[in-house]
Amino acid sequence: MKRRSLSMVALFATLATAVAASEGVPFQRVADMLYQVMSADREVYTRMVVQRLTIDEEVLTASEHYDDDLALPLPSQMFRFGAERVMDETDEFSYSLLSLAPINKKSGPGTPLEKEGLEYVADNPGENFYGEEDLGGDRYFTAIYPDFAVVEACVTCHNSHKDSPRRDLKVGEVMGGIVIRIPMD
Ligand code: HEC
Repeated sequence: MKRRSLSMVALFATLATAVAASEGVPFQRVADMLYQVMSADREVYTRMVVQRLTIDEEVLTASEHYDDDLALPLPSQMFRFGAERVMDETDEFSYSLLSLAPINKKSGPGTPLEKEGLEYVADNPGENFYGEEDLGGDRYFTAIYPDFAVVEACVTCHNSHKDSPRRDLKVGEVMGGIVIRIPMD
């Protein structure tokens, strides 16, 4: 298996290194570029794999128990697996997928800034949120971007999931936020 050559992880690591090498690129621009890659990849997997095979063609299912169920991993799991691989590779940035009404209780806001940012992107669809925070004695630039329900699969699955606090999601709505954090020192 070509482990790294084709992976999104490698792309992020390359992008981060290239950006670090060109001095003076503002944190916000770095985060914006990372977000573009992440959200494009997230949308492509959901649209071309999950939506197509589970809803349009109805030949597979997607489930958090994908191993036991012989199903597709969820878009949120693919996203988390990528984030974990990046964490193994670099401490130059980290990222996560959160929501104010999460299915997974671990995916709620973890800091006051995350909460503020998630509220901001939910209340101002299409806008991003930027801030700085001190965590464990280190200063971070933290950017929060909207995570949109880009296809029917997003809302069908969330609205019918047994642990979902929301049943009224619609296509096009902001369902949560992508948090990108960059140490400033
Ligand atoms: C087939 C079901 C399914 C599909 C399709 C799906 N999700 Fe999820 N999503 C889940 C489950 C279950 C979780 C929680 C599991 C986890 O932590 O990975 C989750 C997690 C999330 C989270 C993190 C907060 C939380 O609820 O735990 C966000 C935000 C999110 N999904 C948004 C979306 C968006 C946007 C789409 C479409 C691009 C989408 N989801 C597609 C089932 C789904």
